[in-house]
Parts: sequence; structure tokens; C-alpha cells
Amino acid sequence: MTTHLWSGRFDAPPDALTFAWGSSFGFDRRLFEDDVIGSLAWARGLKRAGVIDDDDAQRLEAALTAILERGRAEPAFVDGPDEDVHSFVERLLVERLGDTGRRLHTGRSRNEQVSLDLRLYLMRRVPLLQRAVAAAIGALYRQALQAGDALMPAFTHFRPAQPVLVAHFLLAHAAPLRRDYDRLAGARREADALTLGSGAIAGTSYDIDVEALARDLGFSRVVANSIDASSDRDFAVTFLYACALTMIHLSRLAEDLIILCGDEHGYFDLSDATSTGSSMMPQKKNPDPLELVRGKTGRAIGQLTALLTALKGLPAGYNKDLQEDKHAVFDAEDTLAGCLMVTRAVVEGLTLNRARAEAAASGLLLATDVADYLVGRGVPFRRAHEIVGALVRKLHTEGRAFQALSAEEWHSASDLFGADVADRVTPRASVAAKRTPQSTAPDAVRDALADLGRWLAGVAG
Ligand code: ARG
Repeated sequence: MTTHLWSGRFDAPPDALTFAWGSSFGFDRRLFEDDVIGSLAWARGLKRAGVIDDDDAQRLEAALTAILERGRAEPAFVDGPDEDVHSFVERLLVERLGDTGRRLHTGRSRNEQVSLDLRLYLMRRVPLLQRAVAAAIGALYRQALQAGDALMPAFTHFRPAQPVLVAHFLLAHAAPLRRDYDRLAGARREADALTLGSGAIAGTSYDIDVEALARDLGFSRVVANSIDASSDRDFAVTFLYACALTMIHLSRLAEDLIILCGDEHGYFDLSDATSTGSSMMPQKKNPDPLELVRGKTGRAIGQLTALLTALKGLPAGYNKDLQEDKHAVFDAEDTLAGCLMVTRAVVEGLTLNRARAEAAASGLLLATDVADYLVGRGVPFRRAHEIVGALVRKLHTEGRAFQALSAEEWHSASDLFGADVADRVTPRASVAAKRTPQSTAPDAVRDALADLGRWLAGVAG
């Protein structure tokens, strides 16, 4: 039995080890159903073009459908000594149908076929990732709702900066994920182009109605150029970029949670179910799942880099280097899917320690509000910054906070400080004083939550 497709031209069979090494069936079997679905459509296209007769078309359709059903029901069936999934399907067809099976590849090349399969694959798999992104966003949303008006510090340079609503912080992690959702949609749109009709590189000599074929397979358009089509993996790069950036966002959330759930901050607790213990130190409750999310981010970035690097020196047209695209796409997809699932579980399991979070939102990080108070009394901001800076220096050395200042002390810092300053300089007054829609003002956060709630309802529908 020949397991390669080019025996006519060659005297000797391929070296077994080299052939096995270069084979992709071990990993492109994941494209099995896309390959068969593409072949079913190609058979219909050949029939419409008058290349095969009704009888052959019917037999091809029946055999391909049976192969598809068997492969779906029994994954171990999709296996063999074949070079790749395309050769596997063709071998089965020839074994079942003889010459009728041999007619299927008329006017078609594996070069366009492999791109077609990967495009079909991404078009059906990207929505699953989007759903998982939305689920992680949903977990952040529910935590934000539950946090109500709880406060915590926000950080710049990882130093306590200003009080914010806990909900605002959680929504800050939902926002990039929402962009990722759209970015994934963009990756799917880029994959959405039919490559069939491109042949190996020059197009096909048969009268294939590619527009009809595109509609048949659920594509909204046909590629523009057959040479480009055989080597274009931009859609895969776009997908990998969307995966890598989503991973970066998950990693940053993981990093925040690792720190903020730790003993030093303790604004949140991780659930037991999403933490691990130490084999030696009984007191430990470790954030392993979050650390793994952070750790796996390098992999997703690596896959993007790997494909970009594979593409950079390629001459026009198909080159076998392109086979590497599948390693990158499948690994990035699996990595992201797992991390989204775990992130969602971790976020769902968080408990807010309101008292600790609010205690940390007080103290010298109200300095900007003190300066704003003076600005309200007509002091130029730069001058106010100086006055409050001096006050902070004194309080810092004495280990005190603004709340501990007596009326005389306020007065000696500036005679513009009135009796109302104590009420104006609190964490709650600080968030309430914010005015812009993107701010942590409670009304703004309420609107942002409502907006996210509507978005979640929309994507779930
Ligand atoms: N396994 C190949 C790949 O993944 C399929 C295309 C093969 N085409 C070729 N001309 N050898 O890219």
C-alpha cells in the first residue's frame, strides 16, 4: 500500500524515518472534520462544473459522509500511516470507491486544502474561545456587582495611589477582555475566505463556481489571489496575536490576584478549591492556578513569534514551513482555553475582605484630595501640591494620617483649610468626588456595570 501521493514520479519510496518525521497527521488530525466537509463541498463543486457525473458525486458524498460520521463517533478511527489528514481521507475514499475516489482531487491541491481546513477550523473554534472569554468577564462582573460600594486602593508604580471602588478595579480587568472578545471576532473574520479554486498556485482549469462553493461552506468571500492564498497565514497570525494578548490580560489579572490575595494585602481570599497547599509548609495556601496562567502566557507569545518567524523568509507560494502553523494555532488555542476556564473558576471563588481593602484605601493616599480641596479654594494646583507634599512629609515621619490632624495643624499648613476638610478628605468622599464617566465615581461605576450587564446578555443570546 502506498502511503504517499506522489509515487508515479519516484523510483524509490521515501525513507521511513524522514517521512514519519515530516508527517503532520499526528497533529493535523484535528482538522479531520473540516477536511471532510471541505471535500464534500469540493465534490459538489466538481459536479456543478460537470467534471464528475451524478453517479460519482453521489458515491463520493455517501462515502465522505460515512467517513465523517465514523471519525466523529470514533476518534481512534482517524489514524494511520498517512502523511497528513488530507492523504488519510483520500486513502479511505480510494479504498472504498476505487477510481471514483481517485477523481476527488481533480483540480485541487493540498496547498489550498490545508489553508481551507485551518480557516474552517478557526471559524468554528474561535466562537468557543469567545464564549469562554465572556464567561471569565461574567465572573468579574458578578464579583463587581457583589462588591457594591466597597473600596480599595488603586496602585500606580505598585504604590498605593488613590481610593477606588472594588467594582471599578474588577471592571478594569473586564475591559481588556472585552476588547479581546472583539479581537477574536476579527481573527475569525480574517479566516473567513474560501481558498478553493486556487489550485496548487495558479488557480484551477476546471469551471468551478467559487462563489457558490464559498456559500456552500459558509464563507462570506473568496480569496483574491491564488499565489497569495497558498502561502497566506496572516489569519493564523491574527488569531495567535488575539490569543497572546488575551493571555497577557489573563496574566496581569493573575498577577494582581496573586498579590492582592496574599497575606501582605489580603483584600481578597482565594477559594480553597482554586488554591493549593504546600507539601512541607502547613501554613501555605498557594495560588498555583494563577501562577500557571501567568507562566503559560510565554507559550502563547512564543507561538505567535514562532509563526511570524516561520513566515518572514518564505518565497511566494506554498512552502512546507507552513505546516508549522498548526502547532502554533492548536497550542495557543488549548493554552488560552485552559487559562480562561481556570481564571473564571478563580474569580468566581474570590471572597472580598471588605474591611482590609477599605483600611488600605485610607491614609496618605488621600493626598490628591487634600490638594483638590485647596484648588477648590482658589490655590493653583502646583502650589497646592507643594503645600500638601510638605504635610505628607510631616505625617509620614510621624506615622500619622490626615484624619489625625487637629484643626490647628490643618490651619498651620494653610489657612484655607476649613472645618469641612475632615469630611472632604475620606476615601468615600474621594471616589464620590470623581466626575468623568470612566472614573471610579459610584454613579459612573453603576453605569459601567449596567453597560457590561447588557453586553453579557447580548453575547449570551
Ligand atoms: N501537511 C501539509 C501542511 O500542513 C499539507 C500541505 C501539503 N502540501 C504540499 N505541497 N506538500 O502544510
